[in-house]
Amino acid sequence: MNEKNITLPDKQATIRVAAYPKELNTGGCIFGGWIMSQVDVAGSIISSERAKGRTATVGVKSFEFHEPVFVGDVISCYTDIIRTGKTSITVKIEVFAERNPAKKEIVRVTEAELTYVALDENRRPREIPKVSD
Ligand SMILES: CC(C)(COP(=O)(O)OP(=O)(O)OC[C@H]1O[C@@H](n2cnc3c(N)ncnc32)[C@H](O)[C@@H]1OP(=O)(O)O)[C@@H](O)C(=O)NCCC(=O)NCCS
Repeated sequence: MNEKNITLPDKQATIRVAAYPKELNTGGCIFGGWIMSQVDVAGSIISSERAKGRTATVGVKSFEFHEPVFVGDVISCYTDIIRTGKTSITVKIEVFAERNPAKKEIVRVTEAELTYVALDENRRPREIPKVSD
């Protein structure tokens, strides 16, 4: 897939956030761990909405950094639930960077699949409610 000079998905992003200089790595671009953190936050938001309660990250199936993120980029995380199990929810997260507002460029920078588990009050797995509930 072409990662550059594309348009944003036609839906609302789960989170949008600007990349600040404090997140720089020694190579002069944004630290991958910061991007991973934003991805995890986005996945936890959509999984908690679907589970109607607290979820915890249990696994990372894949994580791909296609393009670097730079200071000043605004990153948007788009989420899709791709699997719902008995107690788990697997989310695909795609991250797009918007840069150079004078001549806007959109780059698909990262994609990942993470799994979340719905938790009860004792932090044990809890069944995911039916969509109709
Ligand atoms: C989440 C937690 C309560 C699950 O407990 P557990 O005893 O492993 O639960 P189970 O074996 O019953 O698995 C629960 C679900 O998670 C899924 N799962 C477990 N490990 C998984 C992994 N590595 N990747 C994907 N799914 C996984 C199981 O398939 C199951 O899904 P299903 O009910 O939809 O079939 C426990 O692992 C935990 O507390 N982990 C720490 C979570 C955390 O703190 N995350 C924040 C980051 S540090």
